Amino acid sequence: MASGHDKIEKNIGLMIVLIIIVVSIGGLVQIVPLFFQQSTTEAVAGLEPYSPLRLVGRDIYVREGCYTCHSQMIRPFRAETERYGHYSVAGEFVYDRPFQWGSKRTGPDLHRVGERYSDEWHRVHLINPRDVVPESIMPGYPWLETTPADATHIVRKMEVLRLLGAPYSDDEINNAPQALEGKTEMDAIIAYLQDLGTSIKTRR
Ligand code: HEC
Repeated sequence: MASGHDKIEKNIGLMIVLIIIVVSIGGLVQIVPLFFQQSTTEAVAGLEPYSPLRLVGRDIYVREGCYTCHSQMIRPFRAETERYGHYSVAGEFVYDRPFQWGSKRTGPDLHRVGERYSDEWHRVHLINPRDVVPESIMPGYPWLETTPADATHIVRKMEVLRLLGAPYSDDEINNAPQALEGKTEMDAIIAYLQDLGTSIKTRR
């Protein structure tokens, strides 16, 4: 007499349906709690939402594809924490939409690069990396220095981010275009880099 299991093994349609049910339960059990846990949804102490200048810098980082060579995700392994500093925690990324974790490290991880170099170092490095790191294979981005920071959509962007949970005040949003006046794309991306990963003080 055929057991229940026999029937499932010989009926691929039934097997597919049952597999989907089992995998869905597993998925729900693992994924749903992440939306409610404090450690994954609440900002770590000291984390600020992006200032207008940093927000523009973040968009330049995405536009220029920096994430294709740089991750922003330090794993909790000794080899990584010795090199980069404290491993990354979920609460540091609550204002990142989308986050820039990346998955490719042609260059070093950048999550704790904030405050490691001077603004001037970044300026020289971004114009021509080989001026400060002779063996570097990173491309130069000299046009950032001469392109004004784009303020066209800054108010709208901040309004949308506020809708999604970034605690901006009306004043911060209304004054955003002024904060960008006279700034270049270079200023913006350096502001972005200098603040990366600085809400957790790291042993370096
Ligand atoms: C083709 C790959 C590549 C791309 C694209 C790239 N980088 Fe790099 N980056 C590197 C490599 C390799 C290094 C290490 C050598 C050096 O310091 O120049 C590096 C180093 C850096 C460093 C110094 C990190 C440290 O801890 O010393 C910073 C900051 C940086 N990159 C920022 C950027 C930014 C911002 C962009 C986008 C505008 C970018 N990179 C695009 C490959 C890349």
